[in-house]
Amino acid sequence: MSYELDRILISEEDIQKRVRELAKEVLASIQSERLLVVAILKGSLYFLADLTRLLPPTCEIDFIQVSSYHGGKSSSGVVQIRKDLDQSIEGRDVLIVEDIVDSGITLQYLRKFLKTRKPKSVAVVSLLSKRQAKNIVLPLEFVGFEIPDEFVVGYGLDYGELYRGLPYIATLREV
Ligand code: PRP
Repeated sequence: MSYELDRILISEEDIQKRVRELAKEVLASIQSERLLVVAILKGSLYFLADLTRLLPPTCEIDFIQVSSYHGGKSSSGVVQIRKDLDQSIEGRDVLIVEDIVDSGITLQYLRKFLKTRKPKSVAVVSLLSKRQAKNIVLPLEFVGFEIPDEFVVGYGLDYGELYRGLPYIATLREV
């Protein structure tokens, strides 16, 4: 089975507008002197870059890589830490930056995993969420867009490592 781009689901303009709004929401609700932004590789890369440029310059950025997809189109259900954080999060206000919540497995695992390291607080900002479409109950403090249960690529999201660099979010179709 192979896939090609189908249609634009969220335009570049709409993404940028929503990211600006999300930055304001985050700033209004998290008053932290030393916010630690934890980005989940690799899908969050463009969202992280755009969002953090709108946050105070005193916020720090660290990366974690968790994999559950293994290059396919659906979650294997098994979460692995492929790259751990470089620093301690004990006593820190942590903002997890995610590109998409699909099955919710990644975030559910990560919240538990990070909590064992005693942060002061943990909040999550995800650009996209399919939770409503999938009836998933999961705490998610900030969400950019609720989307239907379709496979999407672009703005960091890939299919087999392709399409990440698109400035918009698009759907794929089978060819
Ligand atoms: C994708 C995406 C999220 C996760 C969401 O990551 O970036 O991290 O899956 O899926 P879930 O809610 O079903 O757990 P992936 O493992 O594909 O890695 P990538 O970000 O490097 O593409």
